[in-house]
Amino acid sequence: MKILGIETSCDETGIALYDGKANQVIFEALYSQAEEHDLYGGVVPELAARDHINRLLPLLKNKMEESSLSLKEIEAIAFTNGPGLRGPLMVGAGFANSLSFALDIPVIPVHHMEAHLIMAKFDTDDLTYPFISLLVSGGHTLIVKVSSSDKYKVIGQTKDDAVGEAFDKTAKLLKLGYPGGPEIERRALLSEGKHHFSFPRPMIDSKDLNFSFSGLKTSVLYKVKDLLKKEDLTDDTVNDIAFEFQNAAIDCLVKKALKACKIERSQSLVLSGGVAANKYLRNQLEKYKGAINLYYPDQKHCTDNGLMIAFAGFQKIKDRSNDFTIEVKPRWSLENV
Ligand code: KG4
Ligand code: ZN
Repeated sequence: MKILGIETSCDETGIALYDGKANQVIFEALYSQAEEHDLYGGVVPELAARDHINRLLPLLKNKMEESSLSLKEIEAIAFTNGPGLRGPLMVGAGFANSLSFALDIPVIPVHHMEAHLIMAKFDTDDLTYPFISLLVSGGHTLIVKVSSSDKYKVIGQTKDDAVGEAFDKTAKLLKLGYPGGPEIERRALLSEGKHHFSFPRPMIDSKDLNFSFSGLKTSVLYKVKDLLKKEDLTDDTVNDIAFEFQNAAIDCLVKKALKACKIERSQSLVLSGGVAANKYLRNQLEKYKGAINLYYPDQKHCTDNGLMIAFAGFQKIKDRSNDFTIEVKPRWSLENV
């Protein structure tokens, strides 16, 4: 079955055509609006919605032509109907539903975070239920107990900023542009440890599985303000701040993810979402690979993309009844999928 995935929950316009039965990607395309939003230091929802409208059709037309396919070959459409930004979600919902009506094929609404999570199953048959998922993105920081293909229990979450948001805000105050995660990671790699900064790891020793990242970000803010009283930040200083910020944030994620596995007696840990693209996070968790089985999507499928929506949509067609709706849900708990 050829299923078209459409992702428009934030600032990436993602499409993919996936053949579920053959487990084959026919095409995928991504248009990132990051450069446009970089001017404003973060995503502007209205601009994101407008740009999705401009990009979706040309992106699809171009890929269909390139692959010499006709629209009639698409057998189902999956689209993100939440959580995310309302305007951008509505663009994807309108597009997907119009196409499904015109082609007379099923349309499948997909939970964005469920799609991130499920994407870890894309290249492996080994992952079996139950497992623990560390789901880390720009809007969410969740530890989820996954008992079956549609049974999710959130057992840990952030009390304030999402970890990706903390990367983005810290990058903004270091003037590293948007999105901040990849740039913080790059600058941390350049650090030669000339300055020994020390930032807090909030809630790292708390008994629960929750997180807090706003204090860490504020601590970087105070340090930067302090340094700026004396002189402008040099590249070395920025690299060292990025290094210590990344260490602190990732220490918290690693500790709580391992704790969750221990409490729930789970041997499998799935790492997903945009922040899962971070190599340092992957490497830190890899160290425990003897004790736990670790799964994560390839790097380009950690951040938002159309394939994860097509792949999740295909799982839904296989596993569930077709009781579909076109409503978008900007706020939507994984526990209610
Ligand atoms: O999943 P995603 O693409 O969009 C949301 O659903 O939010 O995640 C985007 C987030 C951004 O906050 C971005 O800075 C972060 O993921 N991110 C990273 C890296 N790549 C993306 N954070 C740390 N290191 C990275 N390499
Ligand atoms: Zn995402």
